[in-house]
This record gives sequence, C-alpha cells and structure tokens, in this order.
Amino acid sequence: MNEVLPGRTRGVARVPDWSAFRAQFPTLERKAYLASGSYGLLGRPVEAAVRRYLDDRIERGVDWAGWGERTEAVRAGMAALLNAGPDEIAVTTSASAGINALASALDFTGPRNKVVVSNFEFPTGAQIWHAQAPRGAVVEHVAEAQDGSIPLEHFAAAIDEATALVQVTHVCYRNGRRQDVEAIARLAHERGALVLLDAFQSAGALEVDVAALGVDFAVGGMLKYLLGTAGIGYLYVARQHIAALTPTASGWFAQADIDAMDIFANDPAPDARRFQSGTPPVVNSYAAEAGLDLIRSVGVPAIEARIRELTGVAMDQLAEAGCRLATPREDDRRGPQVAIRSRDAAALTARLAERGVVVSWREDNVRAMFHAYNDTRDVDALLEGLMAHRELLA
Ligand SMILES: Cc1ncc(COP(=O)(O)O)c(C=O)c1O
Repeated sequence: MNEVLPGRTRGVARVPDWSAFRAQFPTLERKAYLASGSYGLLGRPVEAAVRRYLDDRIERGVDWAGWGERTEAVRAGMAALLNAGPDEIAVTTSASAGINALASALDFTGPRNKVVVSNFEFPTGAQIWHAQAPRGAVVEHVAEAQDGSIPLEHFAAAIDEATALVQVTHVCYRNGRRQDVEAIARLAHERGALVLLDAFQSAGALEVDVAALGVDFAVGGMLKYLLGTAGIGYLYVARQHIAALTPTASGWFAQADIDAMDIFANDPAPDARRFQSGTPPVVNSYAAEAGLDLIRSVGVPAIEARIRELTGVAMDQLAEAGCRLATPREDDRRGPQVAIRSRDAAALTARLAERGVVVSWREDNVRAMFHAYNDTRDVDALLEGLMAHRELLA
C-alpha cells in the first residue's frame, strides 16, 4: 500500500472526520472541555495503551527491550512532529528536565554569560536560568509594550554580543499570544546567540517546524496538546550543537553505551540522548506514543486549521457579546488559547465548572484552550456560561 501523508490523500487535502475524532474522548460527553493547555483530554487509545502497560507488567514482569522500543517510538514520533531527526531528540521527564540538562552544558564563565528571557515565559523557563547565577549567568528580561505584546525591538535591545542564549516561548501560557519565533531566532543568530524555544503551549496544536523556525533547541512535554500524559517530555538539540555540548547533569541513560556500566568515566552518547539521565519514564512512554498516534491520525495541519476556525468563531462571538480579550484576533498572533479578561478569574472559572464548562485561569484571565476535539457546542456552552456571570467579566 502506498504511504499517504496524514490528512492527505493523493495530494488532495482530506478533511478528517471530526466527530469520529471527538468520539474518542469520552469526557466530552459530559463536559465542555476547554482546558487542553492545562492538561489534554484522555483519549480511548491512550487509555488502552496504559492498560497494555499494566497487562505487560502482569504478564512478563520485566521487559526492558519492549520498554526501550516505547521510548524510541516517542523519540521518533517527536522528531517527525518537529521536523527533526530522532538523533536530535532527548526523551525527558519534563520540560524543566530538558532545560536543566541544556543549562548544565552551557558555560557562563566566558564573555557570553547572558541569558535573555522573555516575560511571556512559563516560570520554569525563567527560574532555571536565574538558578544559573552562581555559575556566572546573568538573566535579562524582555518586557511587554503598552499593548501587551513583546515587539521585536525589545528583543533587539536585549540581545547583544554577551548573550549566550535566548529563551522564547511560542505561545504565552497567560494570554495566548504567539511570538514571531522565526524573526527572534534570526536576530539572535545575527548576534551570535543561541535560541531555546518553549513549545509546550503549541506543539500538537500548531505546526512547530524547528528547521523552519531556525531554533537551536526546543522543549516541551506530552500532557497538553500532545494528548499523552504528565511525566514525559522532550528536548530537541540541533545536530550541529550536540558534540560541543556536554551536560554535567547526566546519568547512565545518557551514556554512549548504556550497557557498558562503566563507573570510571563519563562517555556521553553522540546524539541528543546525552541530555537524558536515568531510567526513562516507561509507563508514560506508552501513553505518549498513543497520544502522538492520535495527533498523527488527523495530522497537525488539519488540527491547526480546525483550532484556528474554532478560536476565531469563539473570539468573534465573545467580542460581540462584550467580553474583553487578552489574545489578539489576528490568526498569526495567537494559538489555541483565547484569554478572556475577568474581575475575578478564579471565581469565574469555578462558576463555569459548576455548569460543566472546564477552563483554567492565570492572573486576570480565564483561559479557554481549544483542541481539535472541540466543536461549536463547546463554544456555545462557554458563551452561555460567561453571559450567565457577566458580573465577573472585566
Ligand atoms: C509553556 C510551558 N512551559 C513549561 C511548562 C512546565 O513544564 P514541566 O512541568 O514539564 O517542566 C509548562 C506547564 O504548564 C508550560 O505551559
């Protein structure tokens, strides 16, 4: 049988059967679930994969070879998703673990000791760089402009010949704004700095092509838009940087030969596995592999298009109903999140939950975070819930 690209048949775009996709997520029978940027829904195939792990455990007790295959399937799946090679992917236990492994390989004692961090970063993506201060790192933050965006000029003012690394998030977890990663990476490279992309709030929902974006590193985890579970993540390291980077946070699964069991030396793997450390997250890799299969079954381009349509409909209706939005309306300046300003975002989130509408909140924003399994019924439920609690809108 000829291989066909996901979502495409003989070069003609095929629209996935979205109701069949939605039917694989039983929570949607009960809830209008709009919190995928907090935790993606459990799909039936992912549930089955975790059960398969339990069955394997009971049946065989131990299966290191089979478990190794699961980790390798996640590595290969993430590589394909990011347009990278499997040799450029470390399978980690969290995004934080990936950033820490990378940080441990950087030298801040020379003239390039600065890490530039945007104010849109998730806390872990700033805290870890501040934690490098005793090793000589100096963190410079890139702040928002009056309109809430971070203009390229603000990055240009911060990135200089002392900058080792720029940490940039693709989609901000607080307000849903998408950053122009390609332009930031171009600017950073012109000045000799490397770029780490946090793709946690985009990968699985938007196309993240590390080659097209021109980033040197990328991190994320599998529990949100990748439909897997907590406790497993990835670090992409562009091939040309691997040999020059030796993590000092390491372990036996980071060695060139895991079976060498050599206690007299550190011999890092020649590929990105050198950024791993100990025993991989075995059960989580079953779930993550199944999550990636779910994404592949419809394809990221189709997912992205559907999310763009749903969020667009939601934003137009919310704006018409008088809601103030923290997320820009332009398609290329946002991702799967629509952030709605509130007087009391915690209370509004709780009121919506009472009505079966699951959202999440950060600061003054209620966050409605869409995946391709959502449909306009979820948009309607959100709108009705918000209108029933107008007093909590800003
Ligand atoms: C953008 C972003 N980066 C990083 C993290 C944290 O990642 P981890 O807990 O895997 O270290 C999150 C978690 O919500 C996130 O949204």
